Amino acid sequence: MGINLSMHRATNLSSIKSIDISPEETICDGFDRNELELKHGCLAGSCGVCLIEVVSGTQFLAPAKTIELDTLNRAKRNNPKLEKVSLRLACKAKVIGLGEVQFKKL
Ligand code: FES
Repeated sequence: MGINLSMHRATNLSSIKSIDISPEETICDGFDRNELELKHGCLAGSCGVCLIEVVSGTQFLAPAKTIELDTLNRAKRNNPKLEKVSLRLACKAKVIGLGEVQFKKL
């Protein structure tokens, strides 16, 4: 699988699926548009079902906003093992930088 660093890309290491993604769409929306499964619930940033561990490319993601930060903090409180993991919500995370974000579905 070649990586084109002039694109916005997101790769799910759990399913070994990689997509081009628009900076206007979330990781969830990008996978949905490509008809690839990425488990989610509310799509509003509050349920935490779409929790992902960002393995690389964190710098290409737009910063998390309040609702996402609240949900991420709750997930870490409920599971201290997540404290040192780079967490995001796939329904809120947008790839805004030119490069690839690699993640695992939690
Ligand atoms: S789907 Fe509910 S927080 Fe992402």
